[in-house]
Amino acid sequence: LKNFQVAIDGPASAGKSTIAKILATDLKYVYVDTGAMYRTVTLAAKNAGIAYDDESGIVNLLTQIDIRFEPGTPTQRVYLNNQEVTEDIRSTEITNNVSQVASYAAVRQDLVGRQRHIANSSDIIMDGRDIGTTVLPYAQVKIFLIASVEERANRRYKENIAKGMTVDLVSLKKDIEARDYKDSHREISPLTQAEDAVLVDTTGQSIDEVVSKITKIIQNKQ
Ligand code: C5P
Repeated sequence: LKNFQVAIDGPASAGKSTIAKILATDLKYVYVDTGAMYRTVTLAAKNAGIAYDDESGIVNLLTQIDIRFEPGTPTQRVYLNNQEVTEDIRSTEITNNVSQVASYAAVRQDLVGRQRHIANSSDIIMDGRDIGTTVLPYAQVKIFLIASVEERANRRYKENIAKGMTVDLVSLKKDIEARDYKDSHREISPLTQAEDAVLVDTTGQSIDEVVSKITKIIQNKQ
């Protein structure tokens, strides 16, 4: 590989994007949030009035979907055809339907192509579900980030409260479990730990602790 690639995979709300963003800033690598891309396709379907179970309708839409990331604080901005969708792609409706859209073969093929294209040009940290297994099989560092479902639901709950969203903890936990189940059981590149990935359990760990652990893993490979 010409560039350095770090793949971070794991279940929903394990802290992948939080950790990946910090590492990318520290290392001056480009950060790619592949979940945001699946979310953007899901939002495009919603905007076009295409049902989430209409596979061919969604697949036909792909050629009309341009997804662009722009730097921003505290978070990257996401654009769908030049319209900002950074917040819209995080709604409960999109969150609860994205796994279905992400299960379609042609959707995955299209987005994996876009992800590899981005990964070609610079040193990158990419997070998602199939980065270590499928998108970047030769990544120098692969991390499989996990945490207990209780802790993941709690973290999401606090984030939602901070954003002024009211969602109860019990349904958050159920939604997380349902999404993990769908992502782990789909036919094409399901969520699984790559053979050469390092398992990092963040249950009870602070963000700083996790960042320094992964930084050491990266430094050992550079
Ligand atoms: O990472 P995030 O939770 O935003 O991802 C949203 C959804 O997108 C996941 O639940 C999964 O269905 C899908 N996804 C995927 N492959 C990836 C990244 C995300 O299937 N590499």
